[in-house]
Amino acid sequence: MSDSTILSPTAHSHAFVQSQREAAFNDPATYWATQAKELLAWRSQWHTTKDTSFDPKNVNIRWFDGGTLNVAENCIDRHLATRGDKPAIIWEPDSPHDPKRILTYSDLHREVSRAANMLLSLGVKPGDRVTIYMPMIPEAAIAMLACARIGAPHSVVFGGFSAQALRSRIEDCESSVIITADGGMRGGKVIDLKNNVDTALEGLSDTKVLVFRHTGHRVSWVEERDIWWQELAETVAAECEAKPFDAEHPLFILYTSGSTGKPKGLLHTSGGYLLYATHTFQHVFDYQEEDVYWCTADVGWITGHSYIVYGPLAAGATTLMFEGVPTYPDAGRFWEIVEKYRVSLFYTAPTAIRMLQREGDDFVTRYDRSSLRILGSVGEPINPEAWQWYHTVVGNKTCHLVDTWWQTETGGHMITPLPGVDETPPGSATQPYFGIRPVLHNTDGQALEAAASGALCIADSWPGQARTIWGDHARFVETYFSAFPGTYFSGDAANRDEQGNYWIEGRMDDVINMAGHRLGTAEIEAAINAHSDIAESAVVGIPDDIKGQAIYAFVIMKPNKHLDDEIRTAINGLLRREVGPIASLKYIQEAPGLPKTRSGKIMRRILRKIAAGEVTSKNHYDKLGDISTLVNPEQVDALVEGRLQ
Ligand code: PRX
Repeated sequence: MSDSTILSPTAHSHAFVQSQREAAFNDPATYWATQAKELLAWRSQWHTTKDTSFDPKNVNIRWFDGGTLNVAENCIDRHLATRGDKPAIIWEPDSPHDPKRILTYSDLHREVSRAANMLLSLGVKPGDRVTIYMPMIPEAAIAMLACARIGAPHSVVFGGFSAQALRSRIEDCESSVIITADGGMRGGKVIDLKNNVDTALEGLSDTKVLVFRHTGHRVSWVEERDIWWQELAETVAAECEAKPFDAEHPLFILYTSGSTGKPKGLLHTSGGYLLYATHTFQHVFDYQEEDVYWCTADVGWITGHSYIVYGPLAAGATTLMFEGVPTYPDAGRFWEIVEKYRVSLFYTAPTAIRMLQREGDDFVTRYDRSSLRILGSVGEPINPEAWQWYHTVVGNKTCHLVDTWWQTETGGHMITPLPGVDETPPGSATQPYFGIRPVLHNTDGQALEAAASGALCIADSWPGQARTIWGDHARFVETYFSAFPGTYFSGDAANRDEQGNYWIEGRMDDVINMAGHRLGTAEIEAAINAHSDIAESAVVGIPDDIKGQAIYAFVIMKPNKHLDDEIRTAINGLLRREVGPIASLKYIQEAPGLPKTRSGKIMRRILRKIAAGEVTSKNHYDKLGDISTLVNPEQVDALVEGRLQ
């Protein structure tokens, strides 16, 4: 590695990593069995380490079958003897002037036990789904761990999702207990979570809502249904037995967007998921006992599940939770927090890096960042300019940068450098993790050898993989295992170079990745179409300097209607209501029609190119590829002419 003289040292040697890679590749079952014994505390030994099939006729994924464990015990109780007084969670509030909170592992044990008892008192039984709709406060992690302690799978819904989005997730997994807070704070503003819960639950009966008092603002209250967390906590014991559950017992459901239909509830189970989150946390971040680790994601996303809560806590680490935003009170907030707590491992998204880069270096350099060792990136491709700035300005050229490619479905890192060992060309996620077998397929389904570009698939199972889609195994099989039979299809395209490094090229389906948030075109279009003047719509992602992608919408109006500012505002309002504030449209173009195939399918490939400005006149139509299959090629002219910029 060319910069090795100035990069901080890491624990891994090339020889160690090489031997692990070989062991995991040659015999994954033996490798993961050894790791599972080393990293986790089991109540009983499994009989079958790996029982997996990617055959579309029989997709089956089971790890550590017959083994039992308690996930919360692994994340808390087993650390008490040696780390009882060690901070487990450091909480930094939205406002730097408000008091921070530090929960030791002993504190966490007490709080999680109490919360688990609260859930039991509400009648929650093993297997019952609990929805968590919380701000970024320790109680979000406490609620998750309390569910894990009693074997009740949680479904965390990101606080930025709307009441409608929350309701559909509550209904899909049929959860009758919702854990929320009166509100959350972001950039000095109150986010009225309780109000959203009230709207989401309108007309639904037999639910209980546990409300943590956080902001203290007035909220409406439904007697019998709503219970204050703090009041119930006083009535329950601070001890709650951690019972063993099967390795394949559901741990959580997490909803994510696909190209079609409603969001999918990916199901993760206990033993394999926890092992994989812990293992990747330790190796990818080169975790050491004295590290202070901070992942800036929200617990509502998989990154928050695996790398704020489960991975770090199972490893006995100190994990920092931040309620606020990177630019409040100013663009130096991240680095102020790094200095304040001497953060050594830092994990964020390219969109935040690009946003802060734009604000200038002064906001960074005025704070002491000498504690930093490892910088991580996740959620979207990191462009080389942002990579260089992160490395040079934030990391002062002394930190290893790990660009980690993975997904909600994968549970943990899949392609990532191991710090100190792998070369890190900016923009490449580099090498497969231990035991991961990427395959690139061409459109004919052939596996490509050597340097190539294609559909990124994985040839064999790994312990952290999602097991199914809640309530719809057929959709799971169809989405991930049917396009390239015998392998898991990620939905991403990737390029593999001569050195075997992977460069993620982005989604091959209609998913839009805006500011690291995964948004499905179908959900967005459904929200737009809810406007009474809109006949039809199609949205595509266009490149955006800060957010990676932004949303460009083409709308067809009903007869005698025309798009005006009022309708534009109303459409964005609908999106906020149906999906949430994370989904807003950058451009809305009125279109006379949409380019369609004879079978009625909208040709998004063409819309994407038009929206991105790749086609500006008829002279450029060769860029669109074959448009002869369109029923209405004349529409293209009108779309190109009407393009907004
Ligand atoms: O397109 C890839 C992109 O994010 C998608 C997964 O999104 P989600 O399930 O929300 O999980 C995000 C956090 C793991 C992927 O299909 N993606 C994620 N990480 C990277 C990435 N694209 C390029 N480089 C990455 N490091």
